[in-house]
Amino acid sequence: MTERRADGSAGDADYGAIGVGYADYRRPEPRIEEFLSRALGQARTVVNVGAGAGSYESAAREVTPVEPSASMRAQRPAGLAPAVDAVAERLPFDDGSFDAAMTTFSVHQWSDAGAGLREMRRVARGPVVVLTCDPALVRDFWLYAYAPEVLDAEARRYPAIADIADALGGRVSVRPVPIPLECRDGFNEAYYGRPEMLLDPGARQACSAWSFVDEAVRERFARELRRDLDSGAWDARFGALRGQAAYEGSLVVVRSVPG
Ligand SMILES: C[S@@+](CC[C@H](N)C(=O)[O-])C[C@H]1O[C@@H](n2cnc3c(N)ncnc32)[C@H](O)[C@@H]1O
Repeated sequence: MTERRADGSAGDADYGAIGVGYADYRRPEPRIEEFLSRALGQARTVVNVGAGAGSYESAAREVTPVEPSASMRAQRPAGLAPAVDAVAERLPFDDGSFDAAMTTFSVHQWSDAGAGLREMRRVARGPVVVLTCDPALVRDFWLYAYAPEVLDAEARRYPAIADIADALGGRVSVRPVPIPLECRDGFNEAYYGRPEMLLDPGARQACSAWSFVDEAVRERFARELRRDLDSGAWDARFGALRGQAAYEGSLVVVRSVPG
């Protein structure tokens, strides 16, 4: 049984508390959108699980969003379909209802990722597409030098890619997703070459990992990063990233087709 919080949040993060302002920082990145579009192929009807404020929902497809948090549903732009209030672990649709299923930046929050992924497989006739992070790679990011607690939390939360593949079954491919320097979608690695952005508390709040550490950790992080930006120490170590057009980090697309 998936527990729901006051605003309906059904994962490990409370979007009633941290969801406000999400859509200001987490806008869909066109290059990631292209990646997802290729993975979804010819699918006309798509269920988007953990749909949030509607990032990556293509106007060219008939999308059915599923989102348990009222705070996130309230941020959906007027032009998008209203989201169904339900959880991944129990999708209120018949078997094979959709051409495809997708989920972006969500599977690590579910109380039972395996159950949710099996539900996606059940309701989709074709591809299931999962945009997620590989927990084996999340610590390979400069942020680990400043806030290891945050990336340790991420490494614990993200399901292993092999477990995602097992839950989905079928023919599975896993592809790294390069992140562009000016990435519009503000997840932590999106700021690989723009460290100043992570000094903004709003940018941090839009990445749920920061809600798993104490305020003291967030304050220490901001103090030490600011110090190293002012002194040039960050640039001496990581400054080459400022000019790097794209970054291959932990972001991956897992795609499964039946058979
Ligand atoms: C980081 S947001 C991602 C939102 C959107 N997919 C995006 O890419 O911007 C994670 C979303 O997953 C949702 N979520 C968490 N647990 C869930 C569950 N068990 N079933 C469905 N959605 C869930 C949250 O409410 C939240 O909106």
